[in-house]
Amino acid sequence: MKIFAHRGAAGTYPENTMVAFIEAKRSGADGIELDVQLSKDGIPVVIHDETLNRTTNGSGFVKDQTMGDMKKLNAGYKFGKQLGRRIPIPSLQEVFEWIQSTDLLCNIELKNGVYLYPGLEEKVIQLVRGYGLEERVILSSFNHYSLVYAWRLAPEIETAPLYRDGIYMPWVYASSIGSRGMHPSIHAVPDALIIDAMAYGIQVRPYTINGEEDIKRLLSINCSAIITDFPERAVRIRELN
Ligand code: G3P
Ligand code: CA
Repeated sequence: MKIFAHRGAAGTYPENTMVAFIEAKRSGADGIELDVQLSKDGIPVVIHDETLNRTTNGSGFVKDQTMGDMKKLNAGYKFGKQLGRRIPIPSLQEVFEWIQSTDLLCNIELKNGVYLYPGLEEKVIQLVRGYGLEERVILSSFNHYSLVYAWRLAPEIETAPLYRDGIYMPWVYASSIGSRGMHPSIHAVPDALIIDAMAYGIQVRPYTINGEEDIKRLLSINCSAIITDFPERAVRIRELN
């Protein structure tokens, strides 16, 4: 069972920042999950919300600010544990610069559910190809139209639909939209369904798996992967089981 660090190691470091991704690597995670939106000047920027308010000392919409503007902000400002320095918001390119020197997998969530960012899929795919990361990237989204579009643009890159509610035979659905994986909320998939999906050849990576009992249970059915805020905890449990 692979372990993906949700928004980096979001349980212990400011989400979607380089310090969180570096912590994920240190903890022994197999991959990171991150969220991507587009800045005003069309640069893929790694941030979860459509606005800057919750995670930074800035405010307003990501789509209304340039990458240069956002670079001045502190993405660690609202995090409980202060790190004693400013933590910048990374661009996707910066993450790729770093990740190419590692063996980490990278699950990129295309955050085009609230705003439809024109060109988001093209720009992300261009970067993935530019860094030669096609085999290490998984594109996911709650916007399944976006995933179909990405699959048509780049069939070599794995896609995986995110979903919160139950889908009847989700492995059939996933493969019908060109996906090799599926990323359900843990509340949307009983274990039996995970087992059926994997038997069908679909990679199942539920989110967000933080509790020890859930981690152990998913290990016991050899789930393909989990997405967790606490990769260090998950790695420790995996080593002991
Ligand atoms: O990839 C799972 C998870 O990241 C989806 O939800 O809201 O944390 O982006 P969210
Ligand atoms: Ca996400």
